[in-house]
Amino acid sequence: MSLSPSDPNASKGGPAPAEPTLRKPVTIRTLRAMCKRGERFACLTAYDATMARWLERGGVEVIIVGDSAAQVVLGLHRTLDMPLDLAIAMTAAVKRGAPATLVMGDMPFATYHESDEQAVRNAARFMTEGLADVVKLEGDASFASTVAKLTRAGIPVCAHVGCRPQTVALTGGYRIPGRTAADAERVVADAVALEKAGAVLLLVEGVPDEVTAAILRSTSVPLIGIGAGTACHGQVLVIQDLLGLTDDPPRFAEPLLNLGPQIAAAAAEWGRRVRSGNIGGQRYVMHEGEAARFGIRGGSGPESSGAATPPGPMGSTEGPGKA
Ligand code: KIV
Repeated sequence: MSLSPSDPNASKGGPAPAEPTLRKPVTIRTLRAMCKRGERFACLTAYDATMARWLERGGVEVIIVGDSAAQVVLGLHRTLDMPLDLAIAMTAAVKRGAPATLVMGDMPFATYHESDEQAVRNAARFMTEGLADVVKLEGDASFASTVAKLTRAGIPVCAHVGCRPQTVALTGGYRIPGRTAADAERVVADAVALEKAGAVLLLVEGVPDEVTAAILRSTSVPLIGIGAGTACHGQVLVIQDLLGLTDDPPRFAEPLLNLGPQIAAAAAEWGRRVRSGNIGGQRYVMHEGEAARFGIRGGSGPESSGAATPPGPMGSTEGPGKA
């Protein structure tokens, strides 16, 4: 967080608030109404308040705090290793950054599989500590009782069907489901069963268009797609894929920016500036007359001239700033 003097929270140590937003908070009802009007809604992932703030300013209706954080934030190889406490903390950060956006917390692997009680306990943490509006879980039809228990507890659920990255250890790698008629029927049956159990949203990942079309024909809640064609009511991408920060993005993700090389260029420029002693920005100054009282002649030392004076060796008492 920048300690800008205009930031009213700077002295409180609290999170920087988002700019006031003019739109009413997006809710499940908003999404249903959009679907009824035939309007599509935009979803993206985010994992921190700053990114969330900018996505809300861009008008995105839904932010998913995906367990993809395990890969894009933590640098792990799979989503299976996403820690629950961190997922909850990130979800709260995103909601603080985007208070008028529908924020979905993604329940990590093994945080809802043990029992329905475990699922309710952990989903409730997403809703209370995590400020989530909806929780997402990956599942097939056998997860219907879990969805029903969460729904009974008043927890809105988005059921994630199709390609389910949390089953990667079982399937031996990411696979595209629904390429055969039998498999396609299974994915549609999963979506139908989970909606029937109470899911207020569905998300389908990585399936052929025909499967998406069949889900749309067989269900009535808003359907979010990722790599599932264009027919869905909403579309989501991992934000790093959209911004051009991913080295090898999935085939369905078309970056709209190429931020990676720009970040590397900014880092290189910063390095050049640091080495030349020309770091830009503005300095803090002592009150009138205090520098003289402090024993430093104002305006003549290396600190005030901005000159690139090489630092002394580590531990030396003669580097800049110690004069
Ligand atoms: O973890 C994730 O990013 C997801 C996407 C499908 C949104 O689940």
